[in-house]
This record gives sequence, structure tokens and C-alpha cells, in this order.
Amino acid sequence: MHTISCGIEGVDQLLGGGLPKGRATLVAGEPGVGKTIFTLQFLLEGLRQGEKAVYLSIDERATHILSDAVSLGWDFEPYLASGQFKILDLTKQFYSQSDSSVSLGDIIKLVLGYTREQSIHRLVIDPVAPLRLINADQAEIGDYIRSLIYGIESDTECTTLLTSYAPVGSHQVSYHGIEEFAASGIIVLKLEKMGSKYARTLRIKKMRGSKTDLSEWVFEIMSGRGIVLRQAV
Ligand SMILES: Nc1ncnc2c1ncn2[C@@H]1O[C@H](COP(=O)(O)OP(=O)(O)O)[C@@H](O)[C@H]1O
Ligand SMILES: [Mg+2]
Repeated sequence: MHTISCGIEGVDQLLGGGLPKGRATLVAGEPGVGKTIFTLQFLLEGLRQGEKAVYLSIDERATHILSDAVSLGWDFEPYLASGQFKILDLTKQFYSQSDSSVSLGDIIKLVLGYTREQSIHRLVIDPVAPLRLINADQAEIGDYIRSLIYGIESDTECTTLLTSYAPVGSHQVSYHGIEEFAASGIIVLKLEKMGSKYARTLRIKKMRGSKTDLSEWVFEIMSGRGIVLRQAV
């Protein structure tokens, strides 16, 4: 299988070479753990190689994402200015009082149409579905997630990262685990108590078609570098 670099030192090796090209991989974990930073690093890696990238923002304003990037020392502005990088912000459509006009079906059409027309190489959907719909009809969300991933993976040139709030089995927010079954791979980020402190950890839970390292690694988030792997637990 063709793989592409995820942009984080050490993680490509854990993935058995990198992220599967043309597939959708899920980055799951609780809020604040580092999912968005992971996806920004993935996009920046592609942009630096001259690829075209899109970040689809669903629950957090795009301006917040850019200020996070700036705090980490990453400058997306030149890529935005040249059109090599696009941020599509759907937060307004999902959260304004007057206008909740975007349906899940609309997201699928928007994403699939755009990535094909523009020949996008790297796509991030953060998170896969809006939090507002967490209590919505399970069958509807299930159909949406399956169709979205099916559509994304039929475009063999575009590699996608989806995020989800928490892995299945935890008591935290997840879309009933459908995204875990549908995605080609799952990367789990966690905040874990180690002695008297909390540490962030990363583990590859599933990766179709490749031999992965299943161990759990402690990581840090550092300015200028983003996610930095430390040691296996
Ligand atoms: N410049 C930075 N240096 C170190 N840590 C940072 C920096 N910027 C953000 N962080 C850490 O990253 C966390 C947010 O990561 P983020 O990717 O937004 O999480 P998630 O998307 O999983 O909610 C913050 O809680 C903060 O601890
Ligand atoms: Mg986030």
C-alpha cells in the first residue's frame, strides 16, 4: 500500500510507513489532548511538499485554529494567500440561531465535490460530525459517516484525517463508534495519569493493510515542533 508522511517524527514508523494514501484515518481522543494539532501538522507536511490541502472546521471557529497554529510557530498565511491551503468553516451554518441550514448530506456533497474539483491531496474534517448532533438519530449519523468515508476513499488521491471526540467504550462523547468501524485506521490520543501527573499518549489502534506498532507512546506538545514522541509506556 502507498503511504504518505503524517508529518510527525516517529509516528510514520508506528504506522508501518505512514498514513495509507487515499484513505481516511481517524484521530480520536478527549478535548484538549492534541487532535487538532496533529491534523495541522499533517496538513503542513503536505503544504511544504507543494501539495494542496483543506481543513474543514465544524465545531471550532477557523480563526481559533489559526491562532493555535501561530502559538505553535506555524505560519499558514502564505499557503492561504496562494490558495494552496483552504479553510472551509461550517461553524456558522451549524451554530447560528437563525441558520442551521447545513445538513449532513450537504457536507458530503461539499467535501467530495471540492476535493475532486480542486485535486486536493490532504483533507482534514475536524471533527467528523458536529457535537450538536451527538444526540441526533443514530441511524442518520451512521449513514452520514459511512457515506462520507466511502466517498472520501473512492478518491484515491486525497488522504484524509477525521477527528472524533473520544474512543468507543469511554463514557465521553463519541458518535456511537461508527467512525471507528468505517475508517481505515485509528490513532488514539489520551490523557493518562502517570504517578502524580497527567501525560499525553498516542497509540495506533487499527491500520488496515499494514503492520503497526501497538505500543503506547508518551508525547509532548512543543512550540515550533508540535507533537513530539518521547518514550513507549
Ligand atoms: N504552543 C503550545 N505549546 C504547548 N502546548 C500547546 C501549545 N498550543 C496548544 N498547546 C496544548 O495543546 C492543547 C490543545 O490541543 P488541540 O489539538 O487543540 O486539542 P483537541 O483538538 O484534541 O481538543 C492545549 O490544551 C494545550 O495544552
Ligand atoms: Mg480540536
